[in-house]
Amino acid sequence: MSAERQKAHAAAAALEYVEHGMTLGLGSGSTAEIFLRLLGERVKEGLDVKGVPTSQRTAEVAHEAGVPLIEVDHVDQIAVTVDGADEVDGRFQLIKGGGACLLREKIIANASDLMVVMVDESKLVDTLGRFPLPVEVDRFGFSITARQVYEALKRAGVKSPDVQLRRKGDGLDPLITDGGHYILDCACGAIPDARLADQHLKAIPGLVEHGLFIGLARVVIVGEDMEARVMEL
Ligand code: 5RP
Repeated sequence: MSAERQKAHAAAAALEYVEHGMTLGLGSGSTAEIFLRLLGERVKEGLDVKGVPTSQRTAEVAHEAGVPLIEVDHVDQIAVTVDGADEVDGRFQLIKGGGACLLREKIIANASDLMVVMVDESKLVDTLGRFPLPVEVDRFGFSITARQVYEALKRAGVKSPDVQLRRKGDGLDPLITDGGHYILDCACGAIPDARLADQHLKAIPGLVEHGLFIGLARVVIVGEDMEARVMEL
């Protein structure tokens, strides 16, 4: 069965967490887009929600799907953020940022009463780190920051980190995030202690945010071939 089918099952199950009148954090990525289109159908049927998008792309898809948006700085409370992830471990720790939206995704998830994560089965891991960890950095002095990211990951127990500047599809120009930053993709193989890595990375001056989401997700929905499995902490 395809990952797409599993993502669709997860997205449909995530709708169960949406209630009339809620302000929602709208995640980014292909699973989040499936969710948005399903949400748009509910809105057409009369569901009253507003969304705070975590990327320009999500804002565009929400607009197409008919999901009303609200300016992030006009929001008092976000009830639920619904988002995808690149990896999830057994403690609901995540790697995010494959779509380069991790900064806004983390701001919104952290400000939400509840974060619901939707994944297909391929995203479940015992130890985070098979997916290269995205790290968002200021463009100024990024090669200095990249060396410090390497050192921080080594101190956190990653054996041989490989830190690479993410480039656009043409392979030439660096990718620029919605916030105007670069992304460093850090191939780790395994991150033995995600909390320690978080602490070491956060101490680097040019580092804007990293893709380890620790203690944020309370619900993980795993799309399977025939249905979705809902896990709550
Ligand atoms: C974007 C993200 C996405 O949630 C993550 O990359 C998963 O994407 P997809 O649902 O397309 O597999 O973190 O920054």
